[in-house]
Parts: sequence; structure tokens; C-alpha cells
Amino acid sequence: MSAHSGAPLRLIILGSTGSIGGSTLEVVRHRRGMGRAVEVVGLATGRSGEALAAQAREMGVRHLALAEGDAPDLPAGCTLHRGADGALALVDAVARPGDVVMAAMVGYAGLAPTLAAIERGCPIALANKETLVAAGALVTAAAARRGVPLLPVDSEHNAIFQCLRSGAPREVRRIVLTASGGPFRTWERDALRSAPPSAALQHPTWRMGPKITIDSASMMNKALEVIEAHWLFDLPAERIDAIVHPASVVHGLVEFQDGSVIAQLSPPDMKLPILSALAWPERLPGCSPQLDWTRLRSLAFEPVDHERFPAIGLGWQVVRRGGTSGAVLNAANEEAVRAYLAGEVSFGCMTDLVADALESVEAPPLSSLRDVVDADARAREFVRREAARSRPSATSRTGRTATPGSSSSTSAPSTRSTTMSGAGRSSTTSPRSGT
Ligand SMILES: NC(=O)c1ccc[n+]([C@@H]2O[C@H](COP(=O)([O-])OP(=O)(O)OC[C@H]3O[C@@H](n4cnc5c(N)ncnc54)[C@H](OP(=O)(O)O)[C@@H]3O)[C@@H](O)[C@H]2O)c1
Repeated sequence: MSAHSGAPLRLIILGSTGSIGGSTLEVVRHRRGMGRAVEVVGLATGRSGEALAAQAREMGVRHLALAEGDAPDLPAGCTLHRGADGALALVDAVARPGDVVMAAMVGYAGLAPTLAAIERGCPIALANKETLVAAGALVTAAAARRGVPLLPVDSEHNAIFQCLRSGAPREVRRIVLTASGGPFRTWERDALRSAPPSAALQHPTWRMGPKITIDSASMMNKALEVIEAHWLFDLPAERIDAIVHPASVVHGLVEFQDGSVIAQLSPPDMKLPILSALAWPERLPGCSPQLDWTRLRSLAFEPVDHERFPAIGLGWQVVRRGGTSGAVLNAANEEAVRAYLAGEVSFGCMTDLVADALESVEAPPLSSLRDVVDADARAREFVRREAARSRPSATSRTGRTATPGSSSSTSAPSTRSTTMSGAGRSSTTSPRSGT
């Protein structure tokens, strides 16, 4: 692959106009500034046609994809792949073995083009965690079969990927993902359940796209990351843990059998894991702020509060259940976040909907992409129906009110609360956990 060899890096960016996409382009400029040739050969985006055109002009890219909206004015010689399958068509048209694909589209939409890139023999710099949550078994099997690395870009997983260089897999006792705790870390449970999108979109340490920002506020993001870690590092649920670390300086830790803990630290800036993934297995001079040790006085950690943030427990539940339960969780969550941002359901209702989907939607074993597609469709339909049913003030099956902003939704403790105090925990109410 070009990332190994010192040859020019050929790069395709899926989701180039987003937060990760923009940071990736900053890293490309930085690498070019260092005299490292990077040829950006493809860019895919959702609806930001004008921004896509500007990126194409700046980077000299000829192959582009736009999922929705009007075609922008493009430089002469550009090919634009349009429609929902535009990113997939772009990969088919341009990807060559060894090209690095930055998978930075948001959500399940990123799965098909990422799988196609793997099949073409492209190393994947993986930001799009939903791909592994929905179809981890397929994605990791395809990568192993084609012999291409999945290079984690998610900061926690990139940190652990780096820490794992310190020992052999058999020497690892467990890994620990850190969580900032999001904007509601100190909020009371009642206020939290009715928190408005304007507050949920204010992340204290990271500037990210809206979907992951909401996931971080509910801590569903950490559930997604537990599942992502399971697939990336081939670890069972009980060897993956999470801890709250509000400063977002320590991104991940690996505990080894001898008791040593290796951690990766850096100020919260996604350019570092992006550069690390694109440079792997080299380390190049960085373009992110450095830690100032003269100002760092303490590193604070606290346990995850599973009563206030029950979403995170669903990650372990899915790892234990396997099959298409990850596809169900992912699709249910995407629909729940959409409904919340549209003002259709309350903040607390999002996690309830995902938990209900995991209990109610059939999640058979996963043997093909068809299984994932079907489970995804069932879960979306379930959440859309439940969210619509709960509007404007109906009470959910479990006695939880779904009205956005309703403080009356908060009084009864959720029957789906989890009581966990360490890795490998299970929901107190799920009959399927621990399987
Ligand atoms: N942001 C972070 O710091 C961070 C950290 C770790 C992991 N991640 C993960 O990285 C992924 C991207 O996150 P983000 O924060 O960068 O999201 P974002 O800012 O919302 O950007 C998403 C990108 O995907 C594009 N897109 C959406 N639907 C598409 C489609 N059907 N075809 C092609 N492109 C499409 C968007 O295009 P438009 O702009 O035109 O809509 C945009 O370029 C997510 O999976 C997230 O969980 C992000």
C-alpha cells in the first residue's frame, strides 16, 4: 500500500465536506507542505455541492460524488457520480489496490462504499464507526480476506491501536476507552431526559458533526465504540471497558497482563489520529497542538454513570448477542437521533427507542450483507413507528413519555437502567444479556 512504501499516497475521501473530511484535507495540506506527495483522487459528499466543487478545484480532484442536491459548477474534466449510490460508484470508478480510503461519511450510508473499497484492496482509514457497528463481522472478514488494514481514526481506537504496539495480543488484559462525558455529564437525570437539541449539540471538548455530537451527549457514542473496539481488536465484551475523562487528553488505555498500563495522550484534535492512520506504520511530524506539560496539573477520571446514561450498556449487550443486533442498534439509533433533532421525541426517549428496538426487532445471525440490510430496515421501521406513536404526548410501552422537552417524562426511573461497575456488565433487564 502506498501508505507503507513512501510512494505518493493516493487518497479517496468519503465524506470530504464533514468535520473529519475537513480535518483530513488539513492533514493533506500539511503532508504536502512537508514535501510528501498526496494525490487526492476522489471525493464524496452528501449535499454540499458547492463545497465539494471548491475542494475539487483546490486539490485537483477529477472524480466526485454527490448524494443529493443540484450539481455545482465543476472544473473541466470532472466526473460527478450522483445519487444515493454516488460514493459507491466513485469507489468503483477510481479505487485501485493500495489507494487509502478515508471512510468519513456519517452513518450506515458509509457501509457499502467502504466494503467496496476493501474488496478493491484499499486500506481503510476508518472514522465511520457505524460501518463496524452494523456489519463488523462482514467488514473485518472482507479486510482479512483481501489483506487490507482497518486503520482506526476514532480517537479512542487510534489511541488503543497505538498502545497495542507495546505488547503481543496474548499479553493484553483489557482495553479502556475514555469518554468526555459530553455536555450533560453533570446534569441531573430529570433535566437530562428533556434536554433540548441546542444544549445537546454543544460538546465541551470536540467539534464534530451533529450525529456524533448527539451520540456523545447520550453516550450512545461509547456504546458504538465498544462494538467498534470489539471488531477492531477482536476482544470480548468483558475485556473492553470505558471510563469518563472530561478533559479528553487521555484517549485510550491498554492494560497488560503484568499490570502495566500504556495510554495515549494528546490534546483533543482529530488531525492527530487522521495523520497517524494516513502515515501508518510511520510516524510523521504532526500538525496538531502539543500537550503543554507545564500547564497540565491533573488527569481526572470518573466511572460511567449507567443510571443517567443507560445507552452505553447497550454496546456490551450487542457485543454479547452478536448476529445482526449491531445493525439493529445502529439503525434504531440513527432514526432516534433524526427524530430527536426533528423535535419529534425527547432526549431520554432516544435511548428508550434503541433499547426497545433491541428487545423487539428480530436480529438473526449475520451471514450476508442481505441480513444487515434487512435488520437495518426492520429497526428503522420500528423506531419510526414507535416515535410517531409517541407523538405528541403518548406514553411508550414502558411508561416513558416521548414528548420532546416534557419534564413529566422524567419522574419514573427507567426500567432499562443498568447497574454496572466494570467491564463485561449486563443490563439488569435484558434477558439476552450475558449470552
Ligand atoms: N467528527 C469527529 O471528530 C469524529 C470523531 C470520531 C469518529 N467520527 C465518525 O466519523 C464519521 C463522520 O463524522 P463527522 O463528524 O465528520 O460528520 P459530519 O461532519 O456530519 O460529516 C459527514 C460527511 O458525510 C457526508 N455524507 C453524508 N451522507 C452522505 C452520502 N450519502 N454520500 C456521501 N457523503 C455523505 C456529508 O456530506 P454533506 O456535508 O454534504 O452532508 C459530510 O461530508 C461518523 O461516522 C463519526 O461517528 C467523527
